[in-house]
Order: sequence, then C-alpha cells, then structure tokens
Amino acid sequence: MIEKSFDTFISREGTSSVKWDLRQEVFGKRDVLPLWIADMDVRCPQPIIEAFKKRVDHGIFGYTGKTASFYDAIIGWEKRRHGWPVKREWISCCPGIVSGINTAIQAFSQPGDKVIIQPPVYHPFYDAVIGNGRQLVFNPLKKESGRFTIDFEDLEKKIDDRTKILILCSPHNPVGRVWTADELEKLAKICIRKDVIVLSDEIHQDIVYAPHRHIPIASLTTDAQGSPLQIGERTITFIAPSKTFNIAGLASSAVIIPNKRLFVEFEHRLNANGLGMGNVFGILGLEVAYNEGEEWLSRLLPYLEENIDFTLKALEESIPQIKSQKPDGTFLLWFDCEALGKDDLCLRNWFIEKASLGLDSGVVFGPGGEQHMRFNIGCPRRTLVEALDRLKTALAEEKPASGFHFTH
Ligand SMILES: Cc1ncc(COP(=O)(O)O)c(C=O)c1O
Repeated sequence: MIEKSFDTFISREGTSSVKWDLRQEVFGKRDVLPLWIADMDVRCPQPIIEAFKKRVDHGIFGYTGKTASFYDAIIGWEKRRHGWPVKREWISCCPGIVSGINTAIQAFSQPGDKVIIQPPVYHPFYDAVIGNGRQLVFNPLKKESGRFTIDFEDLEKKIDDRTKILILCSPHNPVGRVWTADELEKLAKICIRKDVIVLSDEIHQDIVYAPHRHIPIASLTTDAQGSPLQIGERTITFIAPSKTFNIAGLASSAVIIPNKRLFVEFEHRLNANGLGMGNVFGILGLEVAYNEGEEWLSRLLPYLEENIDFTLKALEESIPQIKSQKPDGTFLLWFDCEALGKDDLCLRNWFIEKASLGLDSGVVFGPGGEQHMRFNIGCPRRTLVEALDRLKTALAEEKPASGFHFTH
C-alpha cells in the first residue's frame, strides 16, 4: 500500500492522544488547535503498521524479549545514520527516555549530589533531578549573535566536588540547536577534567536539517588535534525511534553505555526499578522502524523543513511581533513573544482564549523560557495554515491599550 501523503489530515480524536484528547484538562478548552507536546500528526511508516497487523493476527501477546535482530537494528541505524559503531554489549533498553534518565540519576549519583542542566530545556529533566533528591544546577544557554550556545565558562564555574552528572540535550529541545563537533569537544573536555558523567539525551538525533549533522557525543574518540578523547567512557546515550517515526506511544528506547562498569550499574538499577522488560509492540516497532523506516524518513524531513520555512515566512510577513529562528533540528519552533508585552500567565491565556491555540508555555522549560512559546510544526500544512490564521486574527483584534503596538 502506498503511504498517505503527510498533507493528509487524520483526526486523532478518540485515540486517547495526549495532544488532542486531553485538551480540556491541559488548556481548559476543548477547541484549541493543539501544537504542543512533541509528537506529530502523521501516520508512521507503513512497514511498522504492516508488522503490527501481522503480530495482532497472531493473537498471543505474552512476555516479549529482545533477540539478536532487535540489537542489530539499533547497531545498523547508528552506524548508517550517525557513523557510530555501537557494540551489542553496550546496549541496554528502557521504556522511554525519561525513565532511563531517572534510572541513570539514581545509578550514578547520591541524594544531595548536583546535576547540571542547560535551560531553557526539556522540563522532565527538572523532575528527574529534584524528584530523586538531587540538587539542580543551571548552566543556562546564552545567545550569541542571535544563536543559542553553551556557556562553557559558566559550566566550569558551576562544577564542584558534589557535581556528578550533566544532562545534555542533543539536539536541544526547545531551542533546536544541533551541537557542533567543536562544542561537543569543549563540553567533553570539561566533563573529563572535572569527572562528570554525561547523560546525553539524543531522542531528536534523526530530525536534523542540512547542513547540520548530529554527532553522538560518545562517538568522539579524538579531539580536533587528533589526541584521544575518552568521552564515550563516561557517557550514557539515550536514543529512540519515537520522535523520528512518530511512535512515542510505544515507549521503547535504547541506552548506549560503552563503559562496562557503568553499564552494569545502570542495568542493576533498571532491574531494581522493574523497568527491564520491554513490551511486545515497542520491541517490534523499534526493530521495524530502524530496519525499514529510512525511505519514509527521507520524505518526512523535507516536509518538516518546508513546514518550518512556511511558518517562519508567515511570521515575518504577517506576524512580525513574534520572532523565531530556523532550528538546526527538531520539529519544534521557539517563539519569542516578548513584543506582545504580556507576562507569562497572560501570554499562555492569550494563546488559549484569544488565538484558540494550545502551545507549550516557554516558562515550563525553565530560566530563559520567559515570554516564549513552543510551537510544534509536526503536522499537515493545513493545520499550520489554520494555526497561523488564528494567530493573525487574534493579533488584529488586540487593542493597542494592552501595551501591544502594531508594527505594520
Ligand atoms: C529531549 C526529550 N527527551 C525525552 C523525551 C521523551 O522521551 P520518552 O517519551 O521516551 O520518555 C522528549 C519528548 O518530547 C524530549 O523532547
């Protein structure tokens, strides 16, 4: 069967979709157009659907393990797509990256230890650190010539004897940066020198736009001068097909740990948490996605990039009060809404009540997220057209007395 085009709108209502079916609970309003949580409104690759149908017809859904072909699918994907030769004995698994990050924090730090994150950043990192009784330390991203970068000087200063872990978001959600070899090398050198373990969340590794290229930090074995760089020995890398192929609901991800001692400690904690067993469709979905999803992905990426360009052009031409930049990767746009002159609560309510749009408030991503909103372009173009129309209309109705001034 030929895949339906990404342009086709498929209703997700009534599928228990968090994005669509929980709008009332999240936004207090059922009719917001949802462009929030990071999944897409497109059907996953047909080979996954066919494999599931066959498996459903079998009718027995007992405990399901990971066989050699499952691990080969992960090894093949990382080698083909990211040039990283991963070994079978480095691969562990977990039901979703958030559970893996929680497990790693428990395995590699003690209560009271410090964990560094780089805000504004994916908000469950906060819960994982605080919820496990560790101290949260911020190394905020900085903006240089309009581009988000890592503040290495600040990072050096923030690390002390209690600092055990840095959580790297690579590519970065929500600002869309794909870190360069030079940036990763600098970060690696600091973490090696200061004896910090890196949890590298690479869930967005496959959604990257040319000329940018995702580099798994653990794959760096030498620095630019050719000297050895053993960052892989202290890195736990989290990957998943969930964003890439729009199968987040399968809760199936892989954890790559080249260091034997860290691998054993991670698995021990994973099993103590009862998270070692995968689920039947998660295991099958990951394997088929990585083995047979590449052609689909090669069509999806240009579609997403066109969605980004389309949205940015619409902002520039008719909604100049909202500023955004082309991300290096991810299907997320980071809207700077400062010119709307609203505090964060008003901004959120304005998007819900006046524009009838359900976006993620920037403040949930922590410091640096103030007066921002995250906008998910992983949908058919007509959804974007509708969203941008709603935004334009709401702005046109805005009274100048609210402190907002039209610039055109
Ligand atoms: C950076 C990042 N990590 C993890 C996740 C979620 O991972 P999982 O659903 O596998 O727990 C997301 C989802 O948006 C994400 O953006």
